[in-house]
Amino acid sequence: MLPGAPFPVGRPRRLRTTPALRRLVAETRLHPAELVLPVFVREGAEAPVPISAMPGVVQHTLDSLVEEARRCVDAGVGGIMLFGVPSAKDGRGSGADDPEGILNVALRRVVEAVGDDLVVMSDLCLDEFTDHGHCGVLADDGSVDNDATLERYASMALAQAATGTPVLGLSGMMDGQVGHVRAALDAAGHTDTAILAYAAKYTSGLYGPFREAVQSSLVGDRATYQQDPANGREALRELEADIAEGADLVMVKPAGPHLDVVAAAAAVSPVPVAAYQISGEYSQIVAAAERGWIDRDRVVDESLLGIRRAGASIVLSYFALEAAARL
Ligand code: PBG
Repeated sequence: MLPGAPFPVGRPRRLRTTPALRRLVAETRLHPAELVLPVFVREGAEAPVPISAMPGVVQHTLDSLVEEARRCVDAGVGGIMLFGVPSAKDGRGSGADDPEGILNVALRRVVEAVGDDLVVMSDLCLDEFTDHGHCGVLADDGSVDNDATLERYASMALAQAATGTPVLGLSGMMDGQVGHVRAALDAAGHTDTAILAYAAKYTSGLYGPFREAVQSSLVGDRATYQQDPANGREALRELEADIAEGADLVMVKPAGPHLDVVAAAAAVSPVPVAAYQISGEYSQIVAAAERGWIDRDRVVDESLLGIRRAGASIVLSYFALEAAARL
């Protein structure tokens, strides 16, 4: 960069003197179209069920989910990502690729209702559907079996693509998942179904509230398949692999603690980079605001702006609808 004029000729505060000036020189702006709202839909629910660790977020019924999707359309939100909460789970996550499983039923409903106006995305992972709560199927020794899980993901992808969902969010962190799912989709003629790859997904304590949201049965953690928060180089390796395997969009998650990774990905990625402000990031802000310690609107906007400034062009956030409505 060229050297700027030093003080006292150069005075950066000059451009901060009025709201109009500050608005003119703003380098980053939030727009509803780049926000995606993650939502939960619970099988058999007769009324929305509040999630205590995420005040303001609920497990939807099919009907209330469609209403929420319509609110997203009205607010100009860019997309919606669906997570299913099944009433029964088993070792292989049978509900995940069952066309009548809650997630697939919900995807069909939402695509039909708002698919022309909102990008509908699916979570493609087994953890909501397995009784052990892991993102894949288990081998005899109890470890998560990577290659056997790929077959389950492929089957899940075909079931989701059949609902008309245009973007599948592969969040399981199995090696080779993008290439495997891409090949399965293409072989079945779903060449237009896009893949959003959770390329750099870190194991994180901030997923805590999500466990309640999907009534996860997980004991322990996902450290054998999700990334160690200590590693940045590894994130670029994951990113490169997913792009080479055909990812149409890549994502970094959680967003806030890993903004350096968002920036590094944005600097090299040939495809759009998304970032996911996860459940614990949401709940931290909500809880502090409830105590009157911080101003909710300001901190929400600042957190989203920081993710955008780091280089993400798409932001998944439980604040998407409230932020969009304010913008
Ligand atoms: C996997 C998945 C998870 C989240 C999104 N997809 C759970 C996990 O990896 O433990 C977490 C999202 C959040 O915490 O908001 N299905």
